[in-house]
Amino acid sequence: MTNSVALITGAARGIGFATSELMVKQGWQVAMVDRDFEALQAAAHQLDHVEAFDFDISKIDQVADMTKAVLASFGRIDAVVNNAGVADFGPIDETDFSRWRDVMATNLDGTFLVSQAALPALKDTKGCIVNVASISGLRASTLRVAYGTSKAAVIHLTKQQAAELGEFGIRANCVCPGPVRTKLAMAVHTQEIIDAYHDAIPLNRYGTENEIAQCIAFLCTPEASYITGQTIAADGGFEATGVGLPALRT
Ligand SMILES: NC(=O)c1ccc[n+]([C@@H]2O[C@H](COP(=O)([O-])OP(=O)(O)OC[C@H]3O[C@@H](n4cnc5c(N)ncnc54)[C@H](O)[C@@H]3O)[C@@H](O)[C@H]2O)c1
Repeated sequence: MTNSVALITGAARGIGFATSELMVKQGWQVAMVDRDFEALQAAAHQLDHVEAFDFDISKIDQVADMTKAVLASFGRIDAVVNNAGVADFGPIDETDFSRWRDVMATNLDGTFLVSQAALPALKDTKGCIVNVASISGLRASTLRVAYGTSKAAVIHLTKQQAAELGEFGIRANCVCPGPVRTKLAMAVHTQEIIDAYHDAIPLNRYGTENEIAQCIAFLCTPEASYITGQTIAADGGFEATGVGLPALRT
């Protein structure tokens, strides 16, 4: 075991849980943060060298308490993985302000607040930030006015963080997953959407939680020491292809 500590939000399931599991295997201690306490407890019980922290990262007061609690337990933070996210797909004229705010509150405000609250600790360790955005932040699409806009903002927030925090030795990078069969995605992906994704993705399939976790975890390693301000799409090639029409395939 090293004594490096990763704080991972949205760690109760999906990509956040896979990242916690992988980073523990790689020798990290992990502060698993989630607002779904029951799922979080069950997830944390499966892993060694972790502790569960029941906090809602969209609430500013809870973020301050969360950082204090993590530091009281672990004494340091070397990496912050801002993974917690919510999806709400709908047309622009049906996305009322409260739906818009719910998405922004977790995806954008939460990412900003958690990073900011962890800054003093990250300055001490010359640590790093990995923000999880989405291909929906790189390419616009129908029904994602709030989700896509929140994720595009997270991509830019990452660049702001890299620009400003480099002088403290803190790196900030962004991972944009393609579709992964998690609870979040399956709540909004019909069979028709799944088939269309397969057609549009050069690798012809969804990614796995572990494939996204590998990318996130790499960016937290010393091997990534000169990488900051970058956005990496772990998406089976989706972002690279402008015209992915099935009819144009051989
Ligand atoms: N699954 C995909 O296809 C996909 C694609 C692109 C990007 N992403 C992004 O990956 C990240 C993880 O998504 P996932 O698919 O694993 O989702 P998921 O729904 O399986 O897991 C998300 C976790 O975040 C937690 N969470 C949500 N809001 C929170 C808050 N305010 N405070 C604390 N915890 C909160 C949930 O309780 C849940 O445990 C998200 O940011 C998502 O937008 C996912």
